[in-house]
Amino acid sequence: MVLPPKSASESRAEMTVRMFPSDANPAGNVFGGEILKQIDLIAGLVSQRHARTNTVTASIDRVNFLKPVYVGNALILNARINYVHRSSMEVEITVEAEDLMTGIRTLTNTAFVTVVALGANGKTTEVPALLLETDDDKRRFAEGEKRMLQRLKERGKA
Ligand SMILES: CC(C)(COP(=O)(O)OP(=O)(O)OC[C@H]1O[C@@H](n2cnc3c(N)ncnc32)[C@H](O)[C@@H]1OP(=O)(O)O)[C@@H](O)C(=O)NCCC(=O)NCCS
Repeated sequence: MVLPPKSASESRAEMTVRMFPSDANPAGNVFGGEILKQIDLIAGLVSQRHARTNTVTASIDRVNFLKPVYVGNALILNARINYVHRSSMEVEITVEAEDLMTGIRTLTNTAFVTVVALGANGKTTEVPALLLETDDDKRRFAEGEKRMLQRLKERGKA
């Protein structure tokens, strides 16, 4: 069955989550693992919107923690699909921390998550092609393809 292509704008998402003391160490720094969890959650949401089937995380590229996130900050995640292949999708996520007292937002992380679609039988399944509507879409797709080929190399598959 050939699935109709879909644009990245159909699946993109923004998510805002407030950070509480249980998300942080005793000094008030939010755990890296909590931020990774939110990255994973939004990648799953966006990929499932695109594929309309179950999706699982296959890999998360190296994530740098550029600035600290503190208890009380709002974590604002923006995610969109850059690239799709047969069953895999690359989702790019940017994370900002907002100080709710001042409104100042700071970029804290960017991440590339590869998510794979599974059919009802639990096996990998084809996802809709990505409709490239803008020059930015085309640039992201070309860069995503390069990263996908690099991941294949690293896994000894290319
Ligand atoms: C991800 C998973 C489904 C891939 O299964 P597999 O049998 O290795 O599948 P294949 O080798 O046929 O690869 C399927 C696709 O996944 C991609 N893929 C597999 N492992 C990958 C990895 N580590 N990084 C990036 N892409 C990967 C392949 O490139 C391929 O993409 P394509 O179909 O677009 O060409 C399997 O490894 C798995 O179930 N892992 C556990 C996932 C999980 O539990 N995640 C956490 C909970 S959400």
